[in-house]
This record gives sequence, C-alpha cells and structure tokens, in this order.
Amino acid sequence: MIYIILLLVLVLIIIYGIYTSYSYFQNTCLNCTSNCTSNCTSIKNTDPLRPHHPQWYKNLPENDAQVQQFYKESEKFALTTPKYTVLGYKKIKMPLEVFDYLKKVCSKQSRIKENHKNIFPRSSSGLPPYIIPIDETKKIWLEEQLKPIMEKWANLPLTHIATYGPREYRKTSALRMHVDQETHIISCILNISQEGCKKPWALRVKGHDRITKDIFMEPGDMVLYESRTVMHGRPDPCPCDYYVNIFMHWYPTDDQTIR
Ligand SMILES: [Fe+2]
Repeated sequence: MIYIILLLVLVLIIIYGIYTSYSYFQNTCLNCTSNCTSNCTSIKNTDPLRPHHPQWYKNLPENDAQVQQFYKESEKFALTTPKYTVLGYKKIKMPLEVFDYLKKVCSKQSRIKENHKNIFPRSSSGLPPYIIPIDETKKIWLEEQLKPIMEKWANLPLTHIATYGPREYRKTSALRMHVDQETHIISCILNISQEGCKKPWALRVKGHDRITKDIFMEPGDMVLYESRTVMHGRPDPCPCDYYVNIFMHWYPTDDQTIR
C-alpha cells in the first residue's frame, strides 16, 4: 500500500513539474535577453508560429570601436557611390497581389531563427528578428512583380541580387544607421504587418540632400531607396510586439564593377 501511495505522489510531482515548465515558457518575456525580471514587460507567447527567440548577441554601446567604424565606413560609401535619383528614397503602395500573397504566407508560416553572425552584432540591438520562410519560386515571382517598379524609379535596367525575409522584428529590436553592401544599390522595403504598436516605428533615412527624415510605414507600403548611398536604419527600439518587413535588392545591370 505504501508503495502505491509513494508512486502516486511521484506521479503528481512529475505532472506539477511539467505544468509549471509549460507555464514558464508560455509567459517568457520577449523583450529581455535572459529570464524575466520585474522591469521586463511580459508578452504572453502562446502563438505556436512564434517560438521564443532570445537575443544571441551582445548589445554594443554607441562608443564601441566596431560601431564607430561601422558608421564611418557607411558615411564614406554613401558619399562616394554613384547616385541614380535626386533624393534617394520614395514611399509608395506595393502592388495589391504582392501584399495579399505576403499577408497570407506570413499568417501561416512558422517563424525560424535568423543568425547572421557577421552583421547583427555591430548593426543591431534588442531582440533579433525571425525569418518567415517563403518558397524560392515565390521569391522569383516577387522579384518579377517589383522589378519594373524599381527600374522605372531608378530609370535604368536592374539585376536582382538578394531578397531577405520576411523578417519579423519584435519589441526592442533596433537597427543602427548604415548603408548596405556594395552590390545592394537599388532596394525596397515592404511592410507586411504590424501588431501591438504603442506608437509608429520610424524608418530613418538620410537622403541625397543630406537631410535626415523619419518615414512611417503602414502595412501595404513600400519604400524604394538607394541603399548604398542613403544612410538608413531603425535606431529607436521597436515599439510593436511584431513588425514584419521583406527587403529586396538590385544593382544596375550595366555596372561592370558588380558581378
Ligand atoms: Fe540596410
């Protein structure tokens, strides 16, 4: 009899342990880098598409040598790379069929981690974004849909070089002002969704007129920009629970220096 009671007690302890672990993970803070503390805003992470993804890199302070070098290099490239439009950026609406597809795929695909070890540590702070995987064939379709818009704006033939995302940023994500790598000349950002925003999250740009401005995007908006000559970033921490963008990049087809 005593063994049966001991066995029952053991089973109850195991059930309690499983339950408390489950509750802990369901309520883990999304905007802190380790376990929750009292000053950490808790977000209930009960969505199975959105597993918890703690920050995997260290936040570097602004005066860190790597960060200062990052700014210096970006400013140099912004000034010395050829420019193709007067201002360097423009906000428009994305094609409706593109928006419909992106909204649909983002509503059902599970998020996966993005570990871009060379870029994130010096350019980013706060929680890193997740990737929402989409088919390669659909990426090609997106490129085909958007290329004529980009070519018309830049007024030159373009060759596609890269597509990133969709990326789902989370509360506290931030991105320092920078320019992109040398192959990313004519680019666009498409905003797919925003959830739980306390205020709008600014895309900050420094145009060819050398004036810094904040652009506020709504889902369905698309910002065209020359990403090697326009300093850009989202330096303020993301005030939204979730903020989803996709990024696409082209270079001038006739540019012999890029292959
Ligand atoms: Fe960029």
